[in-house]
Amino acid sequence: MSNETNQTVQIGGNSITLNDLIGKMTLDEKIAQLIQLAVPFYEGAEDAGLITGPMESLGITEDTVRNSGSVLGMAGAKDVINVQRTHLENNRLGIPLLMMADIVHGFKTIFPVPLAIGCSWDLPLAELSAEIAAKEAAVSGVHVTYAPMVDLVRDPRWGRVMESTGEDPYLNAEFARAFVRGFQGTDLAGDYDRVAACVKHFAAYGAGEAGRDYNTVDLSERQLREFYLPGYKAALDEGCEMVMTSFNTVDGIPATGNSNLMRKLLREEWGFDGILISDWGAVKELIAHGIAADETEAAAKALKAGVDIEMMTSCYAKNLADLVAKNEIDEALIDEAVMRILTLKKKLGLFENPYRAANPEREKEIVFCDDHRAASFELALKSCVLLKNESVLPLQSGQKIAVIGPFAQSGDLLGPWSWTGSHDAVVRLADSIKNKLSQPSSLLVAAGCDIESSTEEQWQEARAAAEAADVIVLALGEHSDMSGEAGCRANIQLPTVQLELIRKLKALNKPMVAVLFNGRPLDLHGVYDEADAILEAWFPGSEGGNAVAELLFGGANPSGRLTMSFPYSVGQVPVYYNAFNTGRPQGAADAQVRYVSQYLDIPNEPLLPFGFGLSYTEYDYSEASISSDTMTAEQPLTVTVKLTNSGKVAGEETVQLYVRDISGEVVRPVKELKDFRKVLLQPGETQEIEFTLTESQLRYYHSDLQHFSDAGEFLAFVGPNSKQTTALSFKLVK
Ligand code: BGC
Repeated sequence: MSNETNQTVQIGGNSITLNDLIGKMTLDEKIAQLIQLAVPFYEGAEDAGLITGPMESLGITEDTVRNSGSVLGMAGAKDVINVQRTHLENNRLGIPLLMMADIVHGFKTIFPVPLAIGCSWDLPLAELSAEIAAKEAAVSGVHVTYAPMVDLVRDPRWGRVMESTGEDPYLNAEFARAFVRGFQGTDLAGDYDRVAACVKHFAAYGAGEAGRDYNTVDLSERQLREFYLPGYKAALDEGCEMVMTSFNTVDGIPATGNSNLMRKLLREEWGFDGILISDWGAVKELIAHGIAADETEAAAKALKAGVDIEMMTSCYAKNLADLVAKNEIDEALIDEAVMRILTLKKKLGLFENPYRAANPEREKEIVFCDDHRAASFELALKSCVLLKNESVLPLQSGQKIAVIGPFAQSGDLLGPWSWTGSHDAVVRLADSIKNKLSQPSSLLVAAGCDIESSTEEQWQEARAAAEAADVIVLALGEHSDMSGEAGCRANIQLPTVQLELIRKLKALNKPMVAVLFNGRPLDLHGVYDEADAILEAWFPGSEGGNAVAELLFGGANPSGRLTMSFPYSVGQVPVYYNAFNTGRPQGAADAQVRYVSQYLDIPNEPLLPFGFGLSYTEYDYSEASISSDTMTAEQPLTVTVKLTNSGKVAGEETVQLYVRDISGEVVRPVKELKDFRKVLLQPGETQEIEFTLTESQLRYYHSDLQHFSDAGEFLAFVGPNSKQTTALSFKLVK
């Protein structure tokens, strides 16, 4: 394989090439490098890092664990140092362990969930969030993070949509790059405050049928390449060191045993030479999927398909040696996998310094420090999306405010994948609102109900608070287990007790602001018409309460824009902006009354489209123009629009540029995001925004899977969201 083989590392004061090191390893030692077990196998870390895990349950020996190549989910400088030290004392060749963990949206300083970060459209801040997460994780002993998750998502029933940045391939790719840059920096070997990134889940995990986790994915290769693959590719182009497989099938073959996907596409076509790790237990799951009769066959299929590390099951540990002995597996495949693992260890500097950045003293200074919390606050401000506002926001400091709802005093604002975060340190919404009031006694707080249950007493308290207040702030949502992995819901409304609370409070005729804490686009029936204002706060992270209060009182102007459509109801799902038109679109001039592509009972359009978000100011878009009506490969176009802040407060608008190919060889989406610009405008200020549109942005995958553009008619659209746009036509001439 690659030229990495001649690289030299230092072990015990001696230099050795990676190739020679592999040459010294026994087959069992090599196989052990391909095994990854979680923290319970290394219990006792605090004292000595002894191996005490339930090895019998996996049918493996202490020797295997002792020689294993990496650990899952260990963090904390002291523990990591102990485990690494004990490992090195016992490991014959002195090969250090790689510590891998899910540092998804922050380590101790938790940032908003990735879907919320997506809604900020703020790539530099997204990058900074990853850089901070890396720094906190690295000093706590982590070497690799299982992030970014770049799965494109269209179905809000799927709990893991909160881990993605949304439904658009271009935007997802931009975020993938930003996260990888933030995690890895530019010099992993020299910069110990960075960690290696592992993009996941390869591939198309977001397209599971019916929004159910782990479910079948079956896409045409064109769909796969056009919509689902760009995120992973972008991460790899940015230098992402690792890839994780996905649980789902892709074209009938589970991703974790899929040679077409991993050997052909990932390795051969894209040239990826880093580590490919299975998702948790996914090698053994080849049996349940039905492509392996037993663990032996599962091991053989996964290794042949390209999986280097098996996470959390023991098909490799128990079977690879036999498979080699029987000539069913070429030992060279194992050597290749080991080489990739050793290469990453070298890149991270682990042979020279197996403890890398782990440092209990520095850990105390860096983790959850004020600067990091300030960055989390900033990103939370930018991630919240104002969905509705009928003259009730911003709130005034002199108002009497009743904060009601299960999230009024909840610390559950971190969201899924915040296992390292501290829930106790989360700023509660009611406390933050109190700080904004001129008289603290003007704050009234009541739960009204729990997330999924209620009592009459809770209601009576809420009613009393509401009756005494000028404005109700209703803090509602899903608890963090209602999204994330295995957090799928078929009904994506708020839980019934919360809808009931809204209905009862509505009868009191007070202005009502709903603040939503949740991990997916919701069906807002029972909220949208009832509330006078709605702020989608997602799971906003450690500084969530402060950020939301800042926005509610106008200390900051909401600027988030949805990156995933909010469906009108779950019956529309999947509903996304970059869809095809159909042959019988609704609203066409010559459309029949009945025989068009529509529902009899609900609109086709989502309640709130991709790109949507309100602000406390008004933006006027005027004079959109295009530099020419003809584009060539050599001569790009410019699309220009004048944007004025015609309101009374400063604000940040996200100007969006979309394109439609009017007549493609294959059908093209009605709109595709091609670029965007975030613009900060003072009241009364006007700025001219200029986009350059080039031929390469018009390319797409044709029926022969070649990626090129078609000559002919196009539309360019500029506007504040995917729906409200001005169209300009042009021609591509070839
Ligand atoms: C998830 C992955 C995660 C892994 C390790 C799996 O269940 O699907 O996203 O990285 O566990 O924690």
